[in-house]
Amino acid sequence: MNRKLIIALTLVAGLAASTTAQAAGTCPQPRKTQAAPANFASKAIPASADAAAGKTLYQKTSKPMACKMCHGEAGDGNGKLGKALKPNPRNFTCTDTMKDVSPGQMFWIIKNGSKGTGMVAHGKSLSDKDIWNVVKYIRSDFMHEK
Ligand code: HEC
Repeated sequence: MNRKLIIALTLVAGLAASTTAQAAGTCPQPRKTQAAPANFASKAIPASADAAAGKTLYQKTSKPMACKMCHGEAGDGNGKLGKALKPNPRNFTCTDTMKDVSPGQMFWIIKNGSKGTGMVAHGKSLSDKDIWNVVKYIRSDFMHEK
């Protein structure tokens, strides 16, 4: 291994160590996310939405990276990268915060991103159908909705 690489790796390890103390999975979570336009916020999950397909996207295949890298395998906001982000990724298991976040609001942020945060727009890589599938997965598995 060359020296530059070793120095770079040491820096990354140090950064990771200094940020792990941050509470990514806090609840209630401070939330300043922009509100979706009213006609989106009130949209319901289509009956055809498929949580299993959403799970694959969330845990594995969504681009540029799987949602779990930030939001965590268990949806608690504690993904590997999530801990280093400010604001922290949403903790979907936090009822106090999520009670104010409608399915349509989630759809809109997943599609368009949350400006100035690590939550990038996924509207180019995910179809509307994909996004509803992932919303359905998050709400049924992490928020225990039917
Ligand atoms: C690079 C890290 C990262 C990835 C990858 C990521 N997110 Fe996020 N996400 C965030 C952050 C940070 C926030 C908090 C944004 C804020 O505070 O406005 C967030 C917020 C959200 C919200 C909350 C919207 C609201 O109104 O409160 C939803 C829903 C969401 N993400 C879904 C997803 C889904 C689904 C994926 C995968 C397709 C994904 N995210 C991938 C970092 C990420």
